[in-house]
Amino acid sequence: MITPLANILCFGAAHFDRTLQCTEQFVPAASNPVRTLHRKPGGVGRNIAVHLRLLGNNVAMLGAVGDDGDGEQVIAALSELGIDTRAIHRLEGKHTAGYTAVLDETGELALGMMDAEVYDFLSIDLLADQLPNLQAWPWWLIDANLPATTISWLADNKGGSKFCAATVSPSKAARFAPVLDKIDLLITNRAEAKVLTGIEINEIDQAKTAIELLRAKGVQDVVITLGAKGVVSSDRDGTAFWPPLPTKVCDVNGAGDAFYSGFLACFAKPGATMDAAVSEGLAMASLTAETQGTTVWDLTQDAVHLRAKHAYKKPL
Ligand SMILES: Nc1ncnc2c1ncn2[C@@H]1O[C@H](COP(=O)(O)OP(=O)(O)OP(=O)(O)O)[C@@H](O)[C@H]1O
Ligand SMILES: [Mg+2]
Repeated sequence: MITPLANILCFGAAHFDRTLQCTEQFVPAASNPVRTLHRKPGGVGRNIAVHLRLLGNNVAMLGAVGDDGDGEQVIAALSELGIDTRAIHRLEGKHTAGYTAVLDETGELALGMMDAEVYDFLSIDLLADQLPNLQAWPWWLIDANLPATTISWLADNKGGSKFCAATVSPSKAARFAPVLDKIDLLITNRAEAKVLTGIEINEIDQAKTAIELLRAKGVQDVVITLGAKGVVSSDRDGTAFWPPLPTKVCDVNGAGDAFYSGFLACFAKPGATMDAAVSEGLAMASLTAETQGTTVWDLTQDAVHLRAKHAYKKPL
C-alpha cells in the first residue's frame, strides 16, 4: 500500500541554540571563561519541520536568517534533509537568530539570551508577493515567532490552506488571540492556553473548560498538552483525555514540538481522524522524550505507529 504524504509548510524559527558553561565561578558584568557544551539547530518551526520530514512528508519552511555563517548552515541543514527552503529569506545586514544559555560552574542556568530579532522582519510586505505559492500548500504550521501583524494577515489570507497554530511561549501565544476564529487546529501547552483563555490549567477539568472557551471563540480543533499528565483533545465529536505513553524519560526538551510533528504527519493526510493523530502525536512526544536533544535522527514511521498503538483515551 502506498502511504499518502502530508504536505506542510512550516512558518517560523530556525536557528542555533548554544550552551556554554563557566569553568570558574560566574561573575556578572565580567568576562567569564567558559567552555561550549553544545551548539545545536533549534527553533520551534525547524523542530517541527525536521521531524515531519524525517517521517517522509513533503515539507517547506518559511523563515528568516541573516547574511552570516549561521544562516547558511541553517538553510544547508534543512536542504540536506529534503526540506524546501526557498521561502527562507536571507536578510542583508541582519544576524541569524539564536539562543545562548550560560550555565554557572555548578551547571545551573546563570543567563539565557534569545536573539529573535530577525523574525520581526517577516513582514506582510516581505511575504505578500509569495501568497499564491504559500496557498498551494494544503497545511500551514504557523509558529508564534512571526510578528502579530503577519500572523493576522496569514489568518485572513489562508485561502484553502488549513491553519495550525504553534504557540511557542506564553508571551508569544498572545499573537494568536485576535485570530482564534480562523484557526483550524490549535495545539498548545497549559501556560500558553492560559494566555489565550485566562484559565489556570492544573487539572484535566480545567483543560476541558479552557478548550470549551477556545472552541466557543471559533477554534475548530484543539489539543492542550499537559506535560507528564498527557493531553486533552477536542473536535466536533467530543473532548477526551489521553494519558502519556509509557516513556523512559531521558530529556523532555522538544517533546512539545515533537507532538505537533506526529499529530500533523497523520492529521494532514486525507481521511485522518483526531484519535489517530493524537495517538501519533503522543508517540512522537514519547520517542523524543527518550532521546537526548530535540531531534530523533533515527526516526521511522514504524517506530511511531508501533508506539501509537498503546495510546488510549477517556472521553470527558
Ligand atoms: N515527563 C514526561 N513523561 C512522559 N511524557 C511526557 C513527559 N513530559 C512531556 N511528555 C509528553 O510530551 C507532551 C508535550 O509535553 P509538554 O506539555 O510539556 O509540552 P511543552 O510544554 O510544549 O514542551 P516543550 O515546549 O518544552 O517541548 C506531553 O503531552 C506528553 O505526552
Ligand atoms: Mg512547547
